[in-house]
Amino acid sequence: MTKHISSTLAVPEASAIPRHVAIIMDGNGRWASKRLMPRVAGHSEGLGAVRKVVQECRRIGVEYLTVFAFSSENWRRPPEEVGFLMKLFLKSLKGEVSRLAENDISLRLIGDLSRFDSSIQEMVQFSEQKTAGCKGLTLTIAANYGGRWDILQAMRQCVAANPDLQADQLTEELLQPYLSMSYAPEPDLFIRTGGEQRISNFLLWQLAYTELYFTDILWPDFDEAELHKAFDWYSQRERRFGRTSAQLATQVMSDAV
Ligand code: IPE
Ligand code: IPE
Ligand code: MG
Repeated sequence: MTKHISSTLAVPEASAIPRHVAIIMDGNGRWASKRLMPRVAGHSEGLGAVRKVVQECRRIGVEYLTVFAFSSENWRRPPEEVGFLMKLFLKSLKGEVSRLAENDISLRLIGDLSRFDSSIQEMVQFSEQKTAGCKGLTLTIAANYGGRWDILQAMRQCVAANPDLQADQLTEELLQPYLSMSYAPEPDLFIRTGGEQRISNFLLWQLAYTELYFTDILWPDFDEAELHKAFDWYSQRERRFGRTSAQLATQVMSDAV
């Protein structure tokens, strides 16, 4: 597995098109309520937006797309809504996996899957295996995921694998392989739809230097044009990673020679 640069240990290369896009798909319930429909209708409709965004990311050469489908706190919702989301998750895995494989898209799941039904766990395993060799885009779905859970599970695994480790020997490099997204570079661009400006326990570790984009568009209304608005905004950002603007300008000049 290629080792990805940590934004806090070295300065990663920033490309015009984000290599890794991470999205909090929020606003499904409000989209449905505005239309006097039950909240869950918004979740079904949101699937269409996922398809559009996946295809467009694949088309323009994004390497990693990570979407937040269900947080570790979403279990607090009414049981009927949770049950509907579980059924929708299973149904969409079954319905989409062949199309993903045909489009050279590999699927990965992050999160504590142990709390899901065995039917979902089996389908996840099948989908990951079926698309494992695909190289066009890596689509990661975060399900029963929490950023704090991720950091804690990584710590636990790291300590278990290195039982003689002294506290001062614990480093980022040692911990990194145990984080759920160790296979991907850190996100360049974070998008949250639905108007809220918060992280809601998504990729806490990995978002250290990610550009954060918030839009009022509700997730079911998000499409290719909205994605490009986010990319245009991203292309205007100066990614300093702790350095000054003047240092960046010098680097651009020396790269040009
Ligand atoms: C996001 O939409 C989808 C999930 C959290 C599963 P919401 O269901 O949070 O929609 P709002 O925020 O209530 O409108
Ligand atoms: C975040 O949305 C989780 C997902 C989109 C899956 P929420 O709607 O659950 O977030 P909060 O509760 O408004 O912070
Ligand atoms: Mg919400």
